[in-house]
Amino acid sequence: MTYTTIKQAMQKGTGDVAIRGWVYRERGSNKIKFIVLRDSSNIIQCVLKKDNFNDNQWEQIDKLKVEASIELKGTIKKDERAPTGYEVEVKKFNVVGESDTYPITKDQSPEFLLDNRHLWIRSRKMVAVMKIRSAYGQAREEFFKKEGFYRFDTPVLQPNQSEGGSTVFEVKYYNQKTYLAQTWQLYGEAAIFALEKVYNTGPTFRAEKSKTNRHLSEFWMVETEVAWWGLKEITEFAKKELKYCIRKVAEECAEEFELLERNAKALIEMTKKEWPTIKYREALKILKEKNGMKVKFGKDLRTIEEETIMTHFDTPVVVTHYPQEIMAFYKPKDPEQPDEALCFDMLCPEIGLEIVGGSQRSLDIEEMSENLKRDGEKPEDYKFYFDLRRYGSVPHSGYGVGLERVLQWICKLDNIKDAKAFPRTMLRWKP
Ligand code: 4AD
Ligand code: MG
Repeated sequence: MTYTTIKQAMQKGTGDVAIRGWVYRERGSNKIKFIVLRDSSNIIQCVLKKDNFNDNQWEQIDKLKVEASIELKGTIKKDERAPTGYEVEVKKFNVVGESDTYPITKDQSPEFLLDNRHLWIRSRKMVAVMKIRSAYGQAREEFFKKEGFYRFDTPVLQPNQSEGGSTVFEVKYYNQKTYLAQTWQLYGEAAIFALEKVYNTGPTFRAEKSKTNRHLSEFWMVETEVAWWGLKEITEFAKKELKYCIRKVAEECAEEFELLERNAKALIEMTKKEWPTIKYREALKILKEKNGMKVKFGKDLRTIEEETIMTHFDTPVVVTHYPQEIMAFYKPKDPEQPDEALCFDMLCPEIGLEIVGGSQRSLDIEEMSENLKRDGEKPEDYKFYFDLRRYGSVPHSGYGVGLERVLQWICKLDNIKDAKAFPRTMLRWKP
């Protein structure tokens, strides 16, 4: 008999089954033992009766500890009292790998669970998040394929900063130095002159000194860059991407969302609504008029302000035209309103988090050189980037989606660290 997953066994519902996995819970007496078995698909209650086994076997069963790996054969039937509604009466079993006393028990501190992350990722919560993450990545690939984009790979080791020099990780590179990618963008921009519509997903690094629940030092950004498009087209496309991926994931992972106490149907409904676009100046007006919060033009929105604005919306909102002077060097001035940049962020409802950042790209070498000097950078280090404006320059735009931020929001996670298996933050880089 071939092994099936627990999910497949439950779909079968009656008769003989063969399953394998790890002991999730165990309890019992010297006559009967209940084991909840888990595999990647689900958990199921298994009952082992002493009468079905010889003394030798029973001794093995009696010694089984949480996380031991076992294979078993038996008959499955519906049982309302069992945790997932089915029970297997075990006829044959084989211990594949015994387990030491498992260090993870109930009520352990978040720090302990992070120290033991290599084990904690087996938990149902982490499994649910990891499955949603996987589904999200697959949905994105599907979306970009449908939209006619090329996947374009870029170096992780890069010669320049691009999003602010104070947050780059320096890497020794033979006798020189290089930096871990802060973004894929500058290379994505080079690629649009060959491929026009490109995207990719990759690890992104920021040496941010923030110890918040929304910052990671290493995160995955899902970026896209398109030739010929301006701010309007790119913001509408970003909405389309997010709507597609969230809807797809909510449809595919309904069980996982339920486990995380997140209503997948509500997420799907949200993707059917109109997602507004407002200007930064309008956002300041909302803050002032509705919340009595005064923010001066020229300041970036802080967490508290993002959160406050988003209490007025029940879908993501695109905020455009942030003050040019505080933006990354490649974000162009709006010719109609030069103190504003042709850029945008997308903020999510409920937790008011910036989940996307993007812009039209400046084509003005002079302007960008000034911005770089303003930021303490040397324009001559950006020759390759400026060349893109010298040989058949075209308007173009792009954006990056913070994958863990989106997951933090849709999975209702208190901390962004739980959006990935092995988080890296200012204070954590192990295991
Ligand atoms: O707004 P950011 O810095 O934009 C860029 O890097 C652009 N070069 C992207 C582009 O236009 N191709 O980062 C984009 C997104 C943010 O909106 C946020 O969701 C996420 O990346 N992000 C972080 N996520 C987790 N931890 C951090 N430290 C993050 N910094 C940015
Ligand atoms: Mg940003």
